[in-house]
Amino acid sequence: MSMNQNLSKIIEIVRNHNRWRRFECVNLIASENTMSPLAEAAYFTDMMHRYAEGKPRKRYYQGNKFTDEIELLVMDLISRLLEVEFVEPRPISGTIANATVFRNLASPGDKALIAPVQAGAHVSHTKFGTLGALGIQQIELPYDVERWNIDVDRAVKLIEEVRPKFVTLGASVYMFPHPTKEIADAAHAVGAKVVHDVAHVLGLITGKVWPNPIHEGADVATSSTHKTFPGPQGGIIFTNDKAIYKAVSKTVFPWFVSNHHLHRLPALAVTAVEMLKFGEEYARQVVRNAQAFAEALSQEGFKIPTENLGYTKSHAFVVDVRPQGGGAKAAKLLEDANIILNKNLLPWDPPEAVKDPSGLRIGTQEMTRFGMKEDDFRELAKLIREVLIDGKDPGEVRKKVVEFRRNFIEVKYGYDVPEDLMKSAIKVPMIL
Ligand SMILES: Cc1ncc(COP(=O)(O)O)c(C=O)c1O
Repeated sequence: MSMNQNLSKIIEIVRNHNRWRRFECVNLIASENTMSPLAEAAYFTDMMHRYAEGKPRKRYYQGNKFTDEIELLVMDLISRLLEVEFVEPRPISGTIANATVFRNLASPGDKALIAPVQAGAHVSHTKFGTLGALGIQQIELPYDVERWNIDVDRAVKLIEEVRPKFVTLGASVYMFPHPTKEIADAAHAVGAKVVHDVAHVLGLITGKVWPNPIHEGADVATSSTHKTFPGPQGGIIFTNDKAIYKAVSKTVFPWFVSNHHLHRLPALAVTAVEMLKFGEEYARQVVRNAQAFAEALSQEGFKIPTENLGYTKSHAFVVDVRPQGGGAKAAKLLEDANIILNKNLLPWDPPEAVKDPSGLRIGTQEMTRFGMKEDDFRELAKLIREVLIDGKDPGEVRKKVVEFRRNFIEVKYGYDVPEDLMKSAIKVPMIL
């Protein structure tokens, strides 16, 4: 292949991806979102080429007077949004935020309690991921499958018995708030800390429809900035505990980041401003949509295991698709129809079922951002039934999905690029 052929190939791949995922698919992946046009414009800056090791105003590199300003503004805006004292925005992902906090609270050989993997713990909480890489021992909290939540009484006993360094709450499938207060009381009584990973629900917390774990007794929270919170991909740590803040701020660099990907910061600041303005309306609609969608799928004939609990209080829910041939088959058939979601372990699955688990995980946050309301999700439930229950050809249903998606192209609950800025901008076309 000549260099020119390579370039054409690259452009073709990018074009195919952009068209497919941005304009032709319905995205129900619970961990993704799309930034507003203004945040996207603020993402493409010269900052993507720069380094700024260290804290604002105390950098190891020259050239940072404006990156210092934007980083301080991000810290201020997010601490206002979350009503907390300290925000550390340098982790470049939720996983890096977790690594920083875990390593500060425990050393290799120490013990940590986590939610069970089948109940939605993120891989970074586990012995297979970041916790394991740090040499910290994983012990699973007891889980109540009927209530889809941590079993508080048994968890308190386990905390007293194990006396861990810390307990991690929060998960990647998370329909009902974890019992932060009860766990924090038990943990604090044995000198343990509580880390609450709110990666999935950050935008619901800033929208005031989900409890803020710091206000309920957690010592420190970690998060991604790009799931229900519709910012650039990245991570944050927040807390009201000055000692924890100082420790993580001293160690995120140099332990886990050098360059903290500065171009995230202006886009994160724009998203924070948007969430201060539109965040409550957005979050309420996300949850209303999730409840209406789960109910509609149930009416179409699907099994929603949390039906008797009111389906969900978050952006996400799971569907038990064993009657439709299991999670792997269902997710692939839907992808062929341009409906994108992921297969997921359900609490009764053994960990080795990860490649073909019982469930699908569904999130409404991104399509809510593109303007979908309850009735639109009801229509989508019918298209899903056509593929998975009626056995229609996914290629045929795909045509209807592409038509359907045409109604939801513009990002809501955010800002456009103003005209005067368009004129002065270096043109950065999205390849379509
Ligand atoms: C609960 C939870 N924590 C952490 C992460 C990791 O976040 P990131 O992908 O930003 O590293 C995820 C990712 O999906 C998650 O679900």
